[in-house]
Order: sequence, then C-alpha cells, then structure tokens
Amino acid sequence: MTTTTTTLKPETIEAIKALTKRFPKPEGALLTAFRMAEREVGFIDAHVCEQVAEAIGMPPAKAWGTLSFYTTFRKDTDGKYIVWVCATLPCALRGAENVFDHISQRLGLKKDETSPDKLFTLKKAECLGSCGTAPCMQVNDDYYENLTFEKIDQIVEDLRAGKSPARHVTTA
Ligand code: FES
Repeated sequence: MTTTTTTLKPETIEAIKALTKRFPKPEGALLTAFRMAEREVGFIDAHVCEQVAEAIGMPPAKAWGTLSFYTTFRKDTDGKYIVWVCATLPCALRGAENVFDHISQRLGLKKDETSPDKLFTLKKAECLGSCGTAPCMQVNDDYYENLTFEKIDQIVEDLRAGKSPARHVTTA
C-alpha cells in the first residue's frame, strides 16, 4: 500500500465525528467510517486511515491494525475491477481452483497482483455466501455464479471492453 496526500472533505470528517457519538465506544464507528471514506475517495491508504482515526479520536496505529485485518477495503494500488474468486470448500468442490487458474491465465495475474494498466486486481476470497451457485466470484459489487471457463472468458472480455457483463445468476 502506498500513501497519498488525499484529504477527506470536511463534511466527511464531520459525519464521522457525528457517527462516533452513536456508539458507546467511539472505535465502534471505525468500519463504517472507513466505508464512508472509501466511498468518497475510492480507497483507504495510510493517510486516509490517519484522518479517519483522528476524526474518531483513536490512535492511528490501532485503526491501521483493524484496516489491515479486513481485506475488502479498496487500496489505492488496486485495479478498477477487483476480482474475488471464492476458494472456500463448497466452491472448491465445484472446481474453484480450476476457475482461479483459468482467470489467472486470462488476466495474466497471480493472486494479489494488479495488471500494469490498473484494470484488474485478482484475489482469492473466503465464502461469498452463495455456495448454492458455486463456483462463484465477485467483481467489485457484482456476483458471477455457476462459473464455467466460457462464462469467465465472456466476463473478462466484457470488462475489458468497458461493458457490464451478464450476471449469470441461476434461478432454478
Ligand atoms: Fe464459495 Fe460459499 S464457498 S460462495
């Protein structure tokens, strides 16, 4: 993770301060505050984390420790599309490893790598909560389920072309 000089808007800082008053301990607001900051600037880096910690009134190192535990917050080094391939048992039993290898090959990326054009970041995820439609993956906020190599190829092609891929949700 790099450090930018990105400054949160005063209204975001004020909203975080107001949020902390709703918790018995101000630290209780931390994850929501991170989401608010992420929504504003698109990522959380050390500088943004410090501003959030200051608004809450907690040590930056403690906020950083929490941030580094939760892997779903976007980093400034992440690509436009973060591809989370589920690797937990139900998906594994339905071929998640092959799915990961296939998409890894298609993107030219290993786990936790970002493409040089910053279009894709590839990650492995714990259960995405859609085991009944395994194998599945999440790209930013969208789920893609019952994956096949053909579906993956189409999804990657659509994303590269700037199109929104069909979601491939099975309703049976
Ligand atoms: Fe993959 Fe639950 S194991 S969604």
